[in-house]
Amino acid sequence: MSKIVLAYSGGLDTSVLLKKYALEGHEVVAITLDLGESDGTAGEGASAALDEVRDKALALGAKAAVLVDAKERFIEEMALPALRANAMYEGVYPLSAALSRPLIAALLVENAHEYGADAVAHGCTGKGNDQVRIELAVRALDPAISTLAPLRDEPLSRPDAIAFAKQHNVPVSSTIERPYSVDANLWGRSIEAGVLENPWTAPPEDAYAWTAAPAQRPAQSEAIEIAFDDGVPSYAGLRGAKMVAALNLIAGRHGVGRIDLVEDRVIGVKSREVYECPGSIALISAHKALERLVLTRDELRFKATIDQKYGELVYDGLWPSPLRGALDAFNAALAPRMNGRVRVRFHQGACTPEGTSSRFGLYDERLATYGHDDRFKHAAAEGFIHLWGLPLELAARVAHDAPQLVG
Ligand code: ARG
Repeated sequence: MSKIVLAYSGGLDTSVLLKKYALEGHEVVAITLDLGESDGTAGEGASAALDEVRDKALALGAKAAVLVDAKERFIEEMALPALRANAMYEGVYPLSAALSRPLIAALLVENAHEYGADAVAHGCTGKGNDQVRIELAVRALDPAISTLAPLRDEPLSRPDAIAFAKQHNVPVSSTIERPYSVDANLWGRSIEAGVLENPWTAPPEDAYAWTAAPAQRPAQSEAIEIAFDDGVPSYAGLRGAKMVAALNLIAGRHGVGRIDLVEDRVIGVKSREVYECPGSIALISAHKALERLVLTRDELRFKATIDQKYGELVYDGLWPSPLRGALDAFNAALAPRMNGRVRVRFHQGACTPEGTSSRFGLYDERLATYGHDDRFKHAAAEGFIHLWGLPLELAARVAHDAPQLVG
């Protein structure tokens, strides 16, 4: 008998797991996180539903069941650092699921310490990225804690899970015939499996829950203003989780943030994943637009390369890597200039930054203008081009057997 802290979602797999552990005589502490998975749609009773999850854990034999509202922590500790890095995997996926796993791991470890457990458990299978992310993060936080992955070690088929559940009075919800596997939090919703496994099949409308179908989108576009204060975004006076939830609704109404990606999983296979990330896509486009106004050309070019690296680290489960910390420090060094406003327009699935303003903006209209107030030194261009092109000219003369410049 041992004490195990289990990441418990309330779904069939982790419920069966919890029951099995309880039957084997283990003391199970069930941890359920509220990361805002219902915040992409208006008016869902998310917290009531999660209270039921906690009650269900106790009914299944957990010694303790903890429901953690981790929404603000998720935005503060995971999503905002990722936003500073414009983090997107393979250029398009804002890493919603990937960012949540190290936080789940942190809460598992914190509760293991609190309850004196030396093992934590999760319900991930052996094919996905999430097992990698959780286990690496647990190991980095406390190498003395062991991580159990029972569904990886002994995969449980759907029919077997249902049979076990029926036999042991584990409630099986009526939505058991889910056509997709879904994971969601404030930063986005991921949809996989079912008909999506054929990459030739277009995602059916019923895969989406947060973003309006083309026919349902408003004909009129809508513009909103996102403000940045040392790189921290706000919208209509809202910050943090409330701001992201509000952006999910408004951008989602216009169908913004649908992503369809054949992606490269950590374990080497390609998989087809569909996402809807209205709020995070709106924030990342606004953030990039402000960077283009405020940062120097060199900073922008360099940052694009490390932003890509950042996204790969997050995806690959290397959130605890010292390199990620170092990249955060780089981004933090730019933050004092990341002050300003961005106007973003939503229309028919598109999210377009259309106006930027900042007291740190490097844009000078007198240098850029083709009008009367032009202060650019046109004459300086000739000398500049002469020297800038000198290496090309020297190489070309050699290549063409032309006379040398200085003979
Ligand atoms: N492919 C995405 C990722 O690796 C989504 C994973 C979603 N997880 C899940 N258990 N459905 O980030």
